[in-house]
Amino acid sequence: MPKVVIIGSGIAGLFAALKLEKKGHEVIIVTKQRPEDSSTNWAQGGIAGILDKTDGKGMEAHIEDTLSCGDGLCNEEIVRCVVKEAGDRIRDLLSIGVDFEKDGEEFHLVKEGGHSARRILHAKDATGAEIERALNSAVSNSDNISMRSHTLGVDLIQRVHGSPEKGIKGIWCLSLDSGKMEALSADAVLIATGGCGQLWERTTNPSVASGDGLAMAVRAGAVSKDMAFFQFHPTALMAGNKKPFLITEALRGEGGILLDNAGLEKYRNGDSGPESYSFTLESSPEGSLATRDVVARACDQKMKITGADNVWLVTDHLERGKLLDHFPNIESKLNKLGLSLGIDPLPVAPAAHYMVGGLSVDINGRVLMNNELPMPGLYGIGEVACTGMHGANRLASNSLLEAIVFANRAAEHFIANPIENLENVPEWRAEGMIKLIEHAPLVRDLETLRKTMTDDVGIVRSFSRLERAKRMLELLSKEVDLIWKRSTPTRELVELRNLVLVASHITNDATERKENRGLHWNKDLI
Ligand code: SIN
Repeated sequence: MPKVVIIGSGIAGLFAALKLEKKGHEVIIVTKQRPEDSSTNWAQGGIAGILDKTDGKGMEAHIEDTLSCGDGLCNEEIVRCVVKEAGDRIRDLLSIGVDFEKDGEEFHLVKEGGHSARRILHAKDATGAEIERALNSAVSNSDNISMRSHTLGVDLIQRVHGSPEKGIKGIWCLSLDSGKMEALSADAVLIATGGCGQLWERTTNPSVASGDGLAMAVRAGAVSKDMAFFQFHPTALMAGNKKPFLITEALRGEGGILLDNAGLEKYRNGDSGPESYSFTLESSPEGSLATRDVVARACDQKMKITGADNVWLVTDHLERGKLLDHFPNIESKLNKLGLSLGIDPLPVAPAAHYMVGGLSVDINGRVLMNNELPMPGLYGIGEVACTGMHGANRLASNSLLEAIVFANRAAEHFIANPIENLENVPEWRAEGMIKLIEHAPLVRDLETLRKTMTDDVGIVRSFSRLERAKRMLELLSKEVDLIWKRSTPTRELVELRNLVLVASHITNDATERKENRGLHWNKDLI
């Protein structure tokens, strides 16, 4: 039976593993930390989708909202395909044991920015954690799937090095327990490594989000697409924090309103609801529930103009009992900081959240190379892939949906078109390499990288700032390359090498864009 290596243990990787093992394929999941350490596990809001196959109107509205949020750059064929397959894939999740919130017999549906209707299934305010729990439990019960945790994918092994059209035959990876490099053979490799939020100083992503899979594939000749479109979430908590904590958009879906200092003052002294005082109305009639690009930019602009460190999310006009029932994890986090839902204004600010661009893939998740042909046996699924679903801006809660639809399509494609690799995989070449003792230069380089991306490649950009970032990235790339060529890999080195490469792709794409669309906003183009 074919052997498949999946890199990453978020929703896309685990879902694909279960589909492949059902057909008797041997699956090895390689994951950097514990199986549950993924962006999926941190997803709060939910998964968008129309369950009822006969609800054509509902599907058309979901398609329409996705296209409109994507600001003209979505691939409509892909959007239609994902929305159409949503019901079947969400039913797959249910049969695996995911427990979505119910309201009597029906699922309880919520709304987030850019959605014209309630169509998001959720598990209170910890949807991703519930999905991750159920998928990991099914994976651990399978005899055909083995989980290699604390193992970091380093590079792809091509059948013929430098000839991507000949296909893939495995990966080199680093055991973070033993520090040793290992070659894993595979008939197919599915990259499901998520995004790269660690490029910015403030991110809602876990520490594993360092763009590893994207960098590995690009080094093997894959093409990245739409990298300029990096989504910042408007509402990450700014209280007492070292690490930003996401305040789900579903809270604004239930009526939470964003105010600046002046608006908060007016609201406190006025006699109407907070909506009319929101600065977000200057950007869109949808106010606090406009699409994420619009709201994040409005917050960023307001903070820059006023010099404030945050804006405020107010919920005291809403029914507190309902809020506590729906958002227990947020409430518990807030309580530790002396805050509470339905009472206190919450200090929030945008934070790096989701990589909308990624590896260019076809409708079956096959990763495309420079010549626009797929590398046989190589697939990209989940956040790492750019399918065309999100265009210039991802509609909230469409990412978990896209992940399961494409995980399924990639698995089915490989099942129907198996490839067998008979060759042995080459060992990692370690002769002449030294053990890296001092990691301090890498730490400093990582700080410089994050500062550069935060200052120069953030929510609002300019050509001069982007050029400055490019110069800095060239320097960093040379430094990292020097260390890479003479040292045996460590996690810090592998991640920094990947992050610098991904940062260059983002910055180059942003520099080349001649118009503002969706998440890409260059003030020289206004
Ligand atoms: C959120 O809960 O606000 C995030 C959901 C998403 O990124 O789609």
